[in-house]
Amino acid sequence: MSKKPDMSDTNGHFNQAKILSTPPPCFSTGEVSEFARDLYGLDGAISLLGSERDQNFRIDTPSGDQFVIKIANSAMDPAILMMQVEALAHIAMVDPQLPVPRVLYSRNESALEKIQSDDGRSHMVHVLTYMPGLYPPDASTSSALSRPLGTCLARLALALRGFNHPAANYEFLWDLKQAAALRGYLRHVPDPGHRQLAGYFLDRFERVVLPEIPKLRSQIIHNDFAPNNLVVAEDNPEEIVGIIDFGDMIYSPLVMELAAPIAHMFRGQDDPLEIAVEIITAYHEILPLESLELSLMYDLIATRLTMLNVIASWRANLFPDNREYIAGYVDIVWEKLAAWRTLDPAEVTRRFFRACGFWESEDLIPSTRVPKETPSAQLERRARLLGPTAYLFYESPLHIVRGEGVWLYDDEGDRYLDVYNNVAHVGHCHPHVVKAISQQSRMLNTSTRYLHGLILELAERITRRLPEPLSVCMFVCTGTEANELAWRMAKLVTGNDGALITGHSYHGNSDATIGFSSEEVPREKLPTHVATLLAPLSNTNFREPDSGLGEAIQTLGERDHQPAMLILDSGFTCDGIYTPPGGYLRTLYVETRRAGGLCVSDEVQAGFGRLGQHFWGFEFDDVVPDIVTMGKPMGNGHPLAAVVTRPEIAEALAAETGYFNTFGGNPVSCAAGLAVLDVIEVEGLQHNALVMGNYLRERLLDLRKDYPVLGESHGAGLLMGVDVLNADGSPDSDLARRVMNHMRQNGVLIGTTGPSANVLKIRPPIVFNQEHAELLLASLVNALEKCA
Ligand SMILES: Cc1ncc(COP(=O)(O)O)c(C=O)c1O
Repeated sequence: MSKKPDMSDTNGHFNQAKILSTPPPCFSTGEVSEFARDLYGLDGAISLLGSERDQNFRIDTPSGDQFVIKIANSAMDPAILMMQVEALAHIAMVDPQLPVPRVLYSRNESALEKIQSDDGRSHMVHVLTYMPGLYPPDASTSSALSRPLGTCLARLALALRGFNHPAANYEFLWDLKQAAALRGYLRHVPDPGHRQLAGYFLDRFERVVLPEIPKLRSQIIHNDFAPNNLVVAEDNPEEIVGIIDFGDMIYSPLVMELAAPIAHMFRGQDDPLEIAVEIITAYHEILPLESLELSLMYDLIATRLTMLNVIASWRANLFPDNREYIAGYVDIVWEKLAAWRTLDPAEVTRRFFRACGFWESEDLIPSTRVPKETPSAQLERRARLLGPTAYLFYESPLHIVRGEGVWLYDDEGDRYLDVYNNVAHVGHCHPHVVKAISQQSRMLNTSTRYLHGLILELAERITRRLPEPLSVCMFVCTGTEANELAWRMAKLVTGNDGALITGHSYHGNSDATIGFSSEEVPREKLPTHVATLLAPLSNTNFREPDSGLGEAIQTLGERDHQPAMLILDSGFTCDGIYTPPGGYLRTLYVETRRAGGLCVSDEVQAGFGRLGQHFWGFEFDDVVPDIVTMGKPMGNGHPLAAVVTRPEIAEALAAETGYFNTFGGNPVSCAAGLAVLDVIEVEGLQHNALVMGNYLRERLLDLRKDYPVLGESHGAGLLMGVDVLNADGSPDSDLARRVMNHMRQNGVLIGTTGPSANVLKIRPPIVFNQEHAELLLASLVNALEKCA
């Protein structure tokens, strides 16, 4: 019988996570040689073997015997080591043919000995017979090894079935059933995309696997039955002749055992699913799996891959000198995890079921079992939590989870061509913008009361694109704030308090700017200091000879207000999307200034190159605004907006109250803004907007021959409105709405606009190309066929 080791120094308290963060022992071969002789009576040549957290040596005795001397990490609980050596004895008894090492007892007849290192730490030591053979080289961790591996693992699990030990239940990061604990380590994963991927699979683990764990048969398992812990015959790489590392043994659900080899075997495999099926079926032939176990396999494999990556990232940071050993493989494993994500869990599970002969287990397929919130439940929760003002697009609202370029992906993995979104101006999640935001977030983000170079660089690049004397740039976070600030300055500089807007405009959601939003507020409820004029064209394609500005100024006067500003959305987006005919703006600017007001160009929708021919909308006429406001596309989804004006206007504000905005112009926002400008310039996106806009207009003109319900297409570049008309030429908002919803059902997202809501609104990210245009047109034709 072996003697029990002295456990007095553990104080009964044991923290397994500590093992992974405690440096491995570092005994010299001289010291090892000395205690091998003293404690075990062993003499011979000592050589170092690899280990993640312990220290392993091989000793070759003169008689030709070989042993492995295993020095445990100082944080290792001796009771757990004892479990491991007792398990080896148990396996040898139950299945003597299984190639597991035998324990060498010390001169004290003990399976475990304690030694002291120079730094005063105690380490437990045990000695095992060496398993000769080859470690399967990476190339041979191929399908050839999968079946023998599955068989051998099943035999090992059977051999351990009757084994128990009081130390077998402990906290351990490498235990799959405890994978939720990995969340606490996600911050060590350097790449944000990887972090998100790991978070996604940990979410799934918690939703899919955790609730089932109490139902799973459990026992003490090996828990790291991966090719790197196996030895194969020198003359036959498919014959397993050694199982060599029992360091992760734990009491856990049996099925978790299978995830380790499958996850590890993925390295270098083109078809991971094939490997998984081979291992699982070979195992199943010896130790039949249960359908519930198989139904969790997709997520267990993903969780194991996640675990490998997250722990490696954490430990690589802790032990940078040993980074290669700890994390050398992680890039490949992240790739494998990303590839695994592209598979349909239901299909994978179905394949596992079929391979094991479960034809009747459809009800356990994950996609039907995942307690996913139904759309109606989510709508109800949304209405309750966000209130009745949080309205959604489309009769059948979309649940979008991912975006890339012009594409959006919903929670079912279906993709949609985004022809509506002017926020993701240079394409959803453009890598250059994402990188700029994440890099700057890692460096610094703070309020704007400190010197910083990025805010100046962005101000320079914005003002360079505007005519003199528009040279002062004030940063805010939203278009609303920008217009609010423009309004304050206009009132201050002019001493007036009236505003002139178009008849169906939108300029923001604040108390002042909602008053400038005749799209939202019925004409009769607009504040008395606001009067409306006509947008350049009516939505039935009738050109108004007179904008009605004179009457609007007169109306203000009758109410005792003089104009402080004329504010125009330069794309007239809510008015129906129009490009002002030459002279329109010029006349309005002259008249407004004559009445004492400033002219504000609201470029929140139309700015930043979308219009193709010009970078800003006001440039379609020969005018220079007093104030330019901008937002939406400026940060490609990051909240960033600005007001640019003349120095003396900004000085008037400074003399009155000054202006502070905690977030406006913070370093991260500026990094986003600069990256957006880079992309527009480098990818030639303004030109693309011009070319693609013209192409679409030509094609839409052709379509009008076959579909007379289509009226004129107006706007410029990739800001386009297409009229939908009744036979008598009047607006047909009902048809426009049906076309929009039909296209959404078929994977193309557009909107409607205009006072009669009969204008199809086409406003895609400006990376929109010809292929996307064809898809849009085909979808429109299809919708007209079905709806008109
Ligand atoms: C022309 C125009 N100005 C201002 C705004 C307000 O911008 P934000 O929603 O960023 O406050 C909008 C928003 O749609 C807009 O279209």
